Amino acid sequence: MGIGDCPANPYILEYLTSSKSDIMTENDHVIKTSGLGKSFKQVRAVDDLSLTVNKGDIYGFLGPNGAGKTTTIKLILDLVQSDGGEIWLNGINITEGGVSVREGIGYLPERAQFYRNLTAIQTLEFFAELKGVDKEQCDELLAKVGMDRWRDKKMGTFSKGMVQLVGVAQSLLGNPHLLILDEPTSGLDPRWSRVLKDIMLEMNAQGTTIFFSSHLLSEVQELCNRIAILNQGKLVIEDTVANVSGGMTHKPKLVIRVSGDAGKAVEALRAGGFEEITVHGNQISVPVESTEKSKVLQLLAEAQIGIEDFKTVEPSLEDAFMGYIGNEAVTGGVMNEP
Ligand SMILES: Nc1ncnc2c1ncn2[C@@H]1O[C@H](COP(=O)(O)OP(=O)(O)OP(=O)(O)O)[C@@H](O)[C@H]1O
Ligand SMILES: [Mg+2]
Repeated sequence: MGIGDCPANPYILEYLTSSKSDIMTENDHVIKTSGLGKSFKQVRAVDDLSLTVNKGDIYGFLGPNGAGKTTTIKLILDLVQSDGGEIWLNGINITEGGVSVREGIGYLPERAQFYRNLTAIQTLEFFAELKGVDKEQCDELLAKVGMDRWRDKKMGTFSKGMVQLVGVAQSLLGNPHLLILDEPTSGLDPRWSRVLKDIMLEMNAQGTTIFFSSHLLSEVQELCNRIAILNQGKLVIEDTVANVSGGMTHKPKLVIRVSGDAGKAVEALRAGGFEEITVHGNQISVPVESTEKSKVLQLLAEAQIGIEDFKTVEPSLEDAFMGYIGNEAVTGGVMNEP
């Protein structure tokens, strides 16, 4: 089937990134933004955002709901018009580079939507045609995401995860040098999440730079060499995962499961000078320096509290994330003045 057989669909525009991988320049910045901004009527969705994705990165883009991640991605892809700042792709300013500046980019939108009446294979072939890449890849890509069994079934009959998998296959058309994925594992079960993460690692090993947004800190910690945290449209930090986790002042936590009264245990620890205690049922967490662990256990023993189990938990990216954005992060961007 040809492009002309389908009615106009606004989502198609989101995919119109051709995939010819021939425009890498010497510049190591695959994506660079400077002072980028975007307001919707009442909301400052992206505010003075400067970030840099280097060639070969797996770069995780984190932030609470409404932080501006999707808007940033759409700005980068020129799907939304910025109201300030600049964007370079492979060292070329997107205002000067024309359409070719986005060649070789694979994009998975946050909500992949397709024509319900096209089958899985027709959908991929349709996008292959739009992107000007070889249709021969389509069957192979469907197999890669486990959708080959459903090749000739209509998109309208697929579950959310199955649609997402076809979306992933679509983003891989033409062996992109840059993959931009907006919450790629959203809606996928653990098995297909794993498959997708392996695909990302494999593509990266073959030279593809990957920029993806996620809410799953464990996923980001596992995959990424660099991350950025966005909050209310502003960049909070951009660094390596190790630096983001380690740069926090978080101490390791001693997590203890007590057999007796957790309230009594908390009292004993407070009396001993440990103020910052969290309790979940009979499990107590206390931030401690390594020299303080035995003191905590001793205080509990003196108060005759039974200990069922204990372990030390090192600060994680999750701790860092909560530390950077705060427990009471506001959903959405900053409201503009009326
Ligand atoms: N087309 C639009 N019109 C009006 N406001 C919008 C539009 N798109 C985004 N916004 C607003 O911009 C802010 C940022 O939204 P965005 O979708 O970029 O957040 P996000 O970080 O991707 O969130 P999530 O994690 O929930 O996907 C939100 O307050 C949102 O309501
Ligand atoms: Mg989003």
